[in-house]
Amino acid sequence: MSLDPSIKQAEFVKSSAHPSECPPPDRPEYAFIGRSNVGKSSLINALVGNKSLAKTSGRPGKTQLLNHFDINDGAWYLVDLPGFGYAKVSKSSRVKWQRTSEQYLTGRENLMCVMLLIDSRLEPQKVDLEFMAWMGENGLPFVLVFTKLDKLNKTEREEFLPRYEAEMLKQWHKMPPVYVTSSETGEGCAELRQFIAQTNELF
Ligand code: GTP
Ligand code: MG
Repeated sequence: MSLDPSIKQAEFVKSSAHPSECPPPDRPEYAFIGRSNVGKSSLINALVGNKSLAKTSGRPGKTQLLNHFDINDGAWYLVDLPGFGYAKVSKSSRVKWQRTSEQYLTGRENLMCVMLLIDSRLEPQKVDLEFMAWMGENGLPFVLVFTKLDKLNKTEREEFLPRYEAEMLKQWHKMPPVYVTSSETGEGCAELRQFIAQTNELF
């Protein structure tokens, strides 16, 4: 393993319907999670520089199952998870999503960090704050990754993060690491790759 943050190779490994089907936990792994349509698959593609690696769609609910991607020939895994909080899916499939991802998140021994993606245009969402509380209770390390920064004007850019922090600090003593990104412009991708390269060293 090396501290070189560059991504030279990225390849789809498999989709798993259940945590027990995931590839062996023999290397560091990072899970991309967040509400439907927040930009998880797009950000994975921007990070690795391949627009067609993870399937994206303007229609929420595109990603199903747990999708593993091998990075740099066996060095680490990225995992693309289905979005949560999508109102149009049935209650039973929502419950199933929740059970599967909770089992995955609490049981995956090589999971280094959860990347919780948040749409920078939205007010803090209850479902995200509750999910963070759940991760806290379960001792899961996470970072916040704000998405779609290219959609904000200058004033919105200055204001969205302090507003979000004010809301979050009602519930937390301090902020987790925060990254601000755009899959359109590539903003924030180098910083995220750097974070992952450093965290890989802890495996
Ligand atoms: P699910 O798989 O349905 O949970 O969605 P997802 O979180 O994987 O979102 P996806 O990457 O499919 O992106 C959803 C939509 O947002 C697509 O139309 C993307 O083109 C758009 N999008 C994602 N990231 C960005 C971004 O940084 N900037 C802009 N302008 N659009 C984005
Ligand atoms: Mg997706």
